[in-house]
Amino acid sequence: MGGDTLNEDKRIDMTRAILVTGGAGYVGSHTVAYLLENMGNDLEIVVVDNLINSYRKPGQKKPESLRIIEDMTGKTIHFYNCDIRDVQAMHRVFQNHLIECVIHFAALKAVGESVTKPLEYYQANVSGTCTLFEVMRDHGVHKLVYSSSCTVYGEPQRLPLDETHPTGAGLTNPYGRSKYFCEEIMKDLCASDKKWSVISLRYFNPVGAHPSGRIGEDPRGTPNNLMPYIAQVAVGRLEELQVFGSDYPTVDGTGVRDYVHVQDLAEGHAGALACFNKTEFTGFHAINLGTGTGYSVLQMVAAFEAASGKRVPWRVAARRAGDVAVNYADASLAARTLGWRARRTLADMCADTWRWQSTHPHGYAT
Ligand code: NAD
Ligand code: UFG
Repeated sequence: MGGDTLNEDKRIDMTRAILVTGGAGYVGSHTVAYLLENMGNDLEIVVVDNLINSYRKPGQKKPESLRIIEDMTGKTIHFYNCDIRDVQAMHRVFQNHLIECVIHFAALKAVGESVTKPLEYYQANVSGTCTLFEVMRDHGVHKLVYSSSCTVYGEPQRLPLDETHPTGAGLTNPYGRSKYFCEEIMKDLCASDKKWSVISLRYFNPVGAHPSGRIGEDPRGTPNNLMPYIAQVAVGRLEELQVFGSDYPTVDGTGVRDYVHVQDLAEGHAGALACFNKTEFTGFHAINLGTGTGYSVLQMVAAFEAASGKRVPWRVAARRAGDVAVNYADASLAARTLGWRARRTLADMCADTWRWQSTHPHGYAT
C-alpha cells in the first residue's frame, strides 16, 4: 500500500474523518475538493482508492487529482492506495482514523465492459461494497452516502423519473444491475439494524469540471460517455463524434439525457452529509440528483461548440444497444430533503469541461 503509513495499534489522528472510497476518481475528486473548500479544520478527509481508474505520476505517492486538490486548498488528504475488498487493509484504515461516515464512490463503471466482464463488476461493485459494509459495522460506523445511478430505473415507464418509479426491471447490463443489487443490499441492511443511515444518490449524467480547470474527467482510453467524447473531438484528440441513433422519438431524433454539473453533484453530497444530523434520516433513502431538464445529443454538440469556439464534427451511427430514448429526473425530493438544487447551466457544464480539456488535452498525464 502506498500513501499514509498504517499504524496497526492506534489511530494516528483523532480528528473526526470522512472516508471517501474512490475519491481519486471523477465525481469523488470533485466532492473531496468541495468538502475541503467548504468545511472547517475539525474534519479530515481520508481517501481509499486502488487507482484502477485514476492516474498517479511516476514517483508520486498520491494520485494527481488529490495532489492538485491539496495544492488548491492547502489541506492534507490522507490517502490509502488500497482496494475496498482488502479486508485487513480496510480495517487498518478504520483503526487509523476516527471515521464518522463514508461516501462510497469506488466502483467499476464502464457499461460495455461490464457485459464482457460480469464477474469483475460484481466482485468490485457488489462484493467490494459488502466488504466495506462489514468493516464499517465492525467499527461502529453506520452512516453512508452511496453513488447510485438513474440506470437503476431501467426503461422509463413514465417521465420525469421520480424515486417511486420501480427499479431493477429491464436492466440491460451487469453494471446497472450491480448498482441495483447494492441498493437492495443497503435496504436489507437498514431493515436489519436501525443504526444504519444510508442515502443513495441516484446521479443522472455527471459532466463538467471544477471551475479552476485543474481537475476534471480523465477517462482511460476512448471515452464511452458523450461529454468527454465531444471534448476530445473539440481538442483534436478524436476525429468525429458518432451519434448513436437519430430516429428516437425526441426533439431531433437523438437520445435525451439529464446532464448535471459535477460541482452540483459535489454540493449534493455535502447536503447528504448534513442530513445525518437529523433523526429522520435513519434507514434507507434514495434521492435523485439531476436538473430535471433533458438535452439531446445534438443540443449538447451545439452547446459545446458555442462554449469552446471549436467545431465538433459528427455523423449518425447505429443506435447503441441498451440505450433508452429519453431520461430525466424529477429532482424535487432532493430539494425538499437535502435543500439541494442543480444551479449550473448547460453553458457552465460545457465551459468548465472545455477549460479542463483545453488545458489538459491528455488529462492528468498532460
Ligand atoms: P471513476 O472511475 O472516475 O472513479 C471511481 C474511483 O474508484 C476510481 O478512482 C477507481 O480507481 C476507484 N476504484 C474502483 N474500484 C475500486 C476498488 N475495488 N477499490 C478501491 N478503489 C476503486 O468513476 P466516477 O465517474 O467518479 O463514478 C463514481 C461513482 O459514481 C461510481 O460508483 C459510479 O458507478 C457512480 N456513477 C457514476 C456516473 C457517471 O456517469 N460518472 C453516473 C452514475 C453513477
Ligand atoms: N452518445 C452518442 N455518442 C457517443 C456517446 C454517447 O451519441 O459517443 C449518446 C448516447 O447514445 C446517449 C447520450 O449520448 O443518448 C448519453 O450517453 P452517455 O454514454 O454519456 O450516458 P448514458 O446515459 O448512456 O449513461 C451514463 C453512464 C452510465 C450511467 C448512466 C446514468 O455511462 O454509467 O449515465 O447515470 F448509469
